[in-house]
Amino acid sequence: MSETLIEMKRITKRFPGVLALNQVDFDLRRGEVHALLGENGAGKSTLMKILSGVYQPDAGEIWFENQPVSFSHPISAQLAGITIIHQEFNLFPDLTVEENIFIGREFCKNSRWLLDKRAQRQAVIEILQRLNLTISPDTLVSELTVAQQQMVEIAKAISVNARVLIMDEPTAALTESEIESLFQVTRMLKAQGTGIVYISHRLEELALIADRATVMRDGQYIATVDYETVHISDLIAMMVGRNLDNIYPKRPPHQRTEKVLEVAGLTRNGVLHDINLSLWRGEILGLAGLMGAGRTELARAIFGADPVDGGTLTLHGRPTRIKDVADAIDKGISYLTEDRKKEGLALGLSVELNIMLGNYPAYSGAVGNVDEKRCRETSQKLVDTLRIKTPHLEQAALNLSGGNQQKIIIARWICKDTDILIFDEPTRGIDVGARREIYELMNRLVASGKSIIMISSELPEVLGMCDRIMVMRGGHITGELQADHATQEKIMQYATLED
Ligand SMILES: Nc1ncnc2c1ncn2[C@@H]1O[C@H](COP(=O)(O)OP(=O)(O)OP(=O)(O)O)[C@@H](O)[C@H]1O
Ligand SMILES: [Mg+2]
Repeated sequence: MSETLIEMKRITKRFPGVLALNQVDFDLRRGEVHALLGENGAGKSTLMKILSGVYQPDAGEIWFENQPVSFSHPISAQLAGITIIHQEFNLFPDLTVEENIFIGREFCKNSRWLLDKRAQRQAVIEILQRLNLTISPDTLVSELTVAQQQMVEIAKAISVNARVLIMDEPTAALTESEIESLFQVTRMLKAQGTGIVYISHRLEELALIADRATVMRDGQYIATVDYETVHISDLIAMMVGRNLDNIYPKRPPHQRTEKVLEVAGLTRNGVLHDINLSLWRGEILGLAGLMGAGRTELARAIFGADPVDGGTLTLHGRPTRIKDVADAIDKGISYLTEDRKKEGLALGLSVELNIMLGNYPAYSGAVGNVDEKRCRETSQKLVDTLRIKTPHLEQAALNLSGGNQQKIIIARWICKDTDILIFDEPTRGIDVGARREIYELMNRLVASGKSIIMISSELPEVLGMCDRIMVMRGGHITGELQADHATQEKIMQYATLED
């Protein structure tokens, strides 16, 4: 079964100031998982938005089962059997899971206006079971976690029996077991002959599921390869256009001088239990653990975002109480959350305004006059270091690719210039080249005397970047490792330790 299902030929798409796609070719076979790879802003989402009728190409052709087609609207693509799960979700927060899955195509009895509630309920239960989802169909989407919302998107897509299913970074927010169910469903759809396009920055994970991969760079088609035989380092070289021999840049071994932060007996009933932790000047401390281990909760407690029930905090040797988030920032702690959606990118505003948002006080004179030149220089510098792909600083954030939007939030936090930075999954959704820039930036930050706590679910990243690693499980610290003695196995052992 290797018939061609889709052929996209010489697709070109231009946005004001950006040539997003330049004569790109892409083909998809029946029953294959085809990975689409490239750095942030390479044009992956745009190409798939064209295939699914969201955008129209400026030039080029789309063939579906050897027939030329053109989709003027997502609905016409969907009717033809092409479904897309977007990088940015499209759920209605105030509707239930069931309503979201069937919106616009509710089950009706033969009289057209009578909803067949039982049939629809039956169908939704089946789909949720197929995905191993234990949420109730009556739950409001706004009450779900990001990961659960992602699964609802997937449920919605598979419920239409798509012949072509496009998933744009589907696992960015999923837990291990959710990824496993997603892969099971993917294999099942594949066996039924569905063609699947899979966009992801997690190259190792793709090895478990992808048959072929197409690499794009700067809106250009680079190559299509078989996943089984290709080396990951070659894929990376094709994506970034140069060899990245080591993506974790080296820095000199950490020397202990001043203890900048000490947490003792920190407790939040039912969530965090007697946490003891210290952070030294110039250190990168890793917080490892499985999803739900309490790492984000710990970060939020230190940052004053959640109340605590006990414990003490010492900053630079002085006992301190952090009242709230503003107080934490005042005292030199910043926290880059994992939920960067909620973090509030003002989509309609420019790149510069988004970076400077909340940072203006530091850039204003005595009478509140903003030093515009300095703002501009700072944001331009951050755009350059983080390689945020934008034609200029005035571009609306809305028009940037998903990964580049994330980098804006990172830039905003770095701009605050605090002594202690907590990074929660800083490289999720971010391509390899930019990852390397973020790692280098972290190294520069600690070299200049700042200290970093990095929460990460990617063990190679934890091992590659941290001086010391603490492992959590169920709201407890279960182990501590010096980086030079740490291995993935040891971390996993602590991460799965029974109390
Ligand atoms: N509506 C738009 N208006 C203007 N520019 C756009 C628009 N949509 C995308 N672009 C630009 O087109 C280029 C390709 O963006 P695209 O979203 O396809 O990238 P991507 O490969 O999906 O990246 P990521 O990995 O970050 O999601 C980027 O430079 C982006 O800023
Ligand atoms: Mg994208």
